Amino acid sequence: YRIDKGNHRHFMAKEIHEQPEVVGRTLAHYVDMAGGRVALPEALPFDFAKLSRLSITACGTAYYAGLVARYWFESLARLPVDIDVASETRYREAPLEADGLTLVISQSGETADTLASLRYARSQGQHTLSIVNVPTSTIARESSAMLPTLAGPEIGVASTKAFSCQLTVLLCLAIHAGRARGVLDPARERALIDALITVPGLMAEALTREGEIEGLAREVSKARDVLYLGRGTSYPMALEGALKLKEISYIHAEGYAAGELKHGPIALIDESVPVIVIAPHDGVFEKTVSNMQEVAARGGRIVLIGDAQGAAEHGLDTLATVTMPDLDPVVAPIVYAVPIQQLAYHTAVFMGKDVDQPRNLAKSVTVE
Ligand code: G6P
Repeated sequence: YRIDKGNHRHFMAKEIHEQPEVVGRTLAHYVDMAGGRVALPEALPFDFAKLSRLSITACGTAYYAGLVARYWFESLARLPVDIDVASETRYREAPLEADGLTLVISQSGETADTLASLRYARSQGQHTLSIVNVPTSTIARESSAMLPTLAGPEIGVASTKAFSCQLTVLLCLAIHAGRARGVLDPARERALIDALITVPGLMAEALTREGEIEGLAREVSKARDVLYLGRGTSYPMALEGALKLKEISYIHAEGYAAGELKHGPIALIDESVPVIVIAPHDGVFEKTVSNMQEVAARGGRIVLIGDAQGAAEHGLDTLATVTMPDLDPVVAPIVYAVPIQQLAYHTAVFMGKDVDQPRNLAKSVTVE
């Protein structure tokens, strides 16, 4: 890899734009395209069919990748998932079944809390599987098995391409688990693979919305608070969107499950709070539409990140709609990572912030 910014102003911009390529490379490593099935690069030392539960732990953006994956493991593999941030996992004294599985996710493979959680899981007799971007890292070395993300070196402090590659590996792993557990038949697996292999192209298409997002970023930069909403896998994407924005623009942002709006955050809504709604046309889209109507009725300014089909059907009153390509909703989080990252990036650039080196943050947190 050449570690320079190429034609980009910041590493973060370069890393956002690299995603079709690195996600494609990661997919090629995990998928037997011709066979229409997932083919993991190495045999795992445990059997998904025998697990009664999967425990996931990670920090920051990697934790949000884990939260998305919970939906995949539960729906595609019918595997119960327990997930927490590593700074809690390590001290919770959670009873973990011997021969159960702990999955840790980390870009650097060196995050202190994640490593401590991995060691705790091992002390309980669990199998440990890590998804890391640095295959020589401590977490990689100390896990019973490791699956690499092939994102290449990530320099921007706010994680982008590592996140989309984590999601890619996690979806492949959930499909693998679904087959092992007898949930996915070959036809369903092939259909999922067909959806997965369209992802790099869809991400390239998503990247072309950059001009629109730049315009939107000017609006967002004026806000003191921003709310991100989503349901299903778009809920953790809302959390990740809010994290990206606060990390690099220092605007206060919160991600919320759209259905939880009425239990509190709706009290914050007025004309001054942009509400970013992440809503691909999936099984919970109609439910999210009702939440958007609640926001609109209170003068909230909605920015919808969704697909053309969804927005048109409802004639929604939005400040702006960022139209994503039509896709299989299973893969939506990977593709929707792009506009979420671009919105944070352009807002921070517009505000003159140091996007690659935000204040108070470190790329890798190796101390507690
Ligand atoms: C830091 C970084 C984040 C990252 C988190 C977890 O806070 O600034 O971007 O998501 O650590 O890092 P890891 O290397 O374990 O994925």
